Formats: sequence, C-alpha cells, structure tokens
Amino acid sequence: MRRLREYHSTRRSLDEVIDWAMHFGGKGLMKVQTLQIPWEITQLARAVQALQPKVIVEIGTARGGTLLLWSYLASEEVIACDLNDMSIQAPLFTRFPPPDSRCKVTLLSGNSHETAFKRRVATALAGRKADFLFIDGDHTVDGVAADYEDYREFVRPGGLIAFHDIVEKQPLPTNQVAQFWQRIKHETETTEFIHDPQQCGFGIGLIRVN
Ligand SMILES: C[S@@+](CC[C@H](N)C(=O)[O-])C[C@H]1O[C@@H](n2cnc3c(N)ncnc32)[C@H](O)[C@@H]1O
Repeated sequence: MRRLREYHSTRRSLDEVIDWAMHFGGKGLMKVQTLQIPWEITQLARAVQALQPKVIVEIGTARGGTLLLWSYLASEEVIACDLNDMSIQAPLFTRFPPPDSRCKVTLLSGNSHETAFKRRVATALAGRKADFLFIDGDHTVDGVAADYEDYREFVRPGGLIAFHDIVEKQPLPTNQVAQFWQRIKHETETTEFIHDPQQCGFGIGLIRVN
C-alpha cells in the first residue's frame, strides 16, 4: 500500500507505468510484478492506448503487473481473471487505477475454461464489448485456443486481442502458445512484437478483430 501511494503520488506517463508494472515490488502475495521484455510490452501498451479503451478483459492476472497497466489505460473497467483466489490481493488490485480515473477493477477468480466462469465474465460485461482482451492464462495449445474461441466474442469489431509468449523457444514445455499462434497468424490481420527472434520465451502476438 505504501508503494501504491507512491505510485499514485503523481500523474504517470505510460513509460513510467510500464516500469512500475515490472518493478512495483512488495512482499509475498502482495508483490506486484510482470515478467515482460520492456520493448514488447511498450509496443502492446501503445497499441492498446491508441484504442482509447473503455473496457479491458485479462485472462491470467497472477501478480497484477499487467493489470496495473490496463488499469491505467481503461477508462471504464478492467475485468481481471485468474485461477488463483485473488481475495487477499483485492484491496490492492482494485485500487490500481490512477486517482483521477473512473476505471473500476473487477477480479474474477476461477477457471476460464468453465462455462459458468465465462457466464461470470459476460455478467460483468453487462452487454458491453471489450476494446481489448489479453490472453495470458493457460499456456497449453488447447488452453490458449479455447480462451481465444470462448472469449473473442466479447471483443468489439476493431478491438484487439493479444497473446503472450508466442515465440517458439520457451523455458517450459507447457508454454505452447507458439503452436497456436503459428496456426492462426495467417488467418487474420496480426502483428508480432518480438524483441529478438532468437530469444527464449516472451513475444506478443496481436490480432485485430473484424
Ligand atoms: C503468466 S501468468 C499471468 C501474468 C500476468 N498477465 C502479467 O504479466 O502480469 C499466468 C496466470 O494465468 C493463470 N491461469 C492459468 N490457467 C488459467 C485458467 N484456465 N483460467 C484462469 N487463469 C488461469 C495462472 O494462475 C497464472 O496466474
């Protein structure tokens, strides 16, 4: 909370927010962090900012690093989803939007692959479409494909969907987003933010919804 007060003590630029998202600090469950390559997340953040997003949905919130960023960019609501119970982090995560923002943070704990969970996301959206969907949850090929198929309908035409960890070389065998990305990247308008084609892990893929 002390770090949050410091973060909120002045109006931040996008670059500063990205730096905070990566190095916020804190301890235990209250540690806020995202593991990103700065150039990649900055490119994504600029693309999302250009949408002037009202509503953002994130699947895979973990330590809240990217949630901090979406809370800065969205003017209305961020719906953040994770398998983890986020009730302990809720007092911190829900205060992420800047003091002059009217953005609300809604935390949904549960499995994105369950029909009942998808219904909870739909209820939170209350008929609105998201401007941006960040898919960074289940990294298996079937898991990421399911999240794309299940949640793309919630994104407005002209909106964006991003996937994290799209590069082929990955530190874990369960990081299989590349297999999914190779399959869909030619089917639609896509952009890749990959800092170094030889890197192990990371890489962001972006789709514009028709
Ligand atoms: C890589 S982390 C997300 C990192 C976060 N987006 C960031 O960069 O700050 C992936 C998260 O996805 C969550 N996750 C994995 N499978 C999921 C599922 N089926 N439904 C919801 N969340 C899931 C995990 O619990 C984990 O916290």
